[in-house]
Amino acid sequence: MTDWEDHYQQGQTPWDKGEPAPPLVDCLRSEPLQGDILVPGCGLGHDVRAIAAATPAARPVGLDIAPTAVKSARKLPLAGHEKYVFGNLFDLDPELRDAFDWVWEHTCYCAIPPEKRDAYVEAVNTALRPGGRLLGVFYLDPYDDEHRPDDGRPPFGTSLEDLEVRLRARFQILKSWVPERAYPGRQGRERMILAQRL
Ligand SMILES: C[S@@+](CC[C@H](N)C(=O)[O-])C[C@H]1O[C@@H](n2cnc3c(N)ncnc32)[C@H](O)[C@@H]1O
Repeated sequence: MTDWEDHYQQGQTPWDKGEPAPPLVDCLRSEPLQGDILVPGCGLGHDVRAIAAATPAARPVGLDIAPTAVKSARKLPLAGHEKYVFGNLFDLDPELRDAFDWVWEHTCYCAIPPEKRDAYVEAVNTALRPGGRLLGVFYLDPYDDEHRPDDGRPPFGTSLEDLEVRLRARFQILKSWVPERAYPGRQGRERMILAQRL
């Protein structure tokens, strides 16, 4: 089990690139996310602030299980009407249920243990209002010589087929594509998915 809080306390956060996910930045140019938006596993909140900055009326909420990540995110300058909440995606507070128009996914799905994937789909579905949408960049292939599939540590890769089968239990997949841009080293390893809550 990953001790996320310890990673933030030790400053061992190789996933944090200090800027929002390039596929999100590109999406926000053509389709700003409106209303209430949940960003599970938000870390220091780079994506949260990008969403807030793109749409001044948006109300993004970054959720993270690591208190130090939440505290650090709160210390960064506000970009709009964003806020940060400490909590567990798998045990959502009542005010975070049926509460969002959008969920933005980025490196939360690949961070959780694979046996929690169906629970992730359920939790995201629960957070959304009826008809709400999930937009996500899913890190399908994080593996290389230093990180093998049998390491038992995140990021955990997946096949597109497995991901889509799980999502279809609670979502209609509207669009699925390879993003044009990615952080260095992730090009061609990610998949964007837009899906609507059933
Ligand atoms: C790989 S990091 C990615 C952080 C951020 N998305 C980024 O790219 O910088 C995964 C994040 O998910 C958070 N996390 C893991 N399990 C969680 C859970 N059950 N509920 C909420 N956050 C969780 C961790 O604390 C961590 O900040």
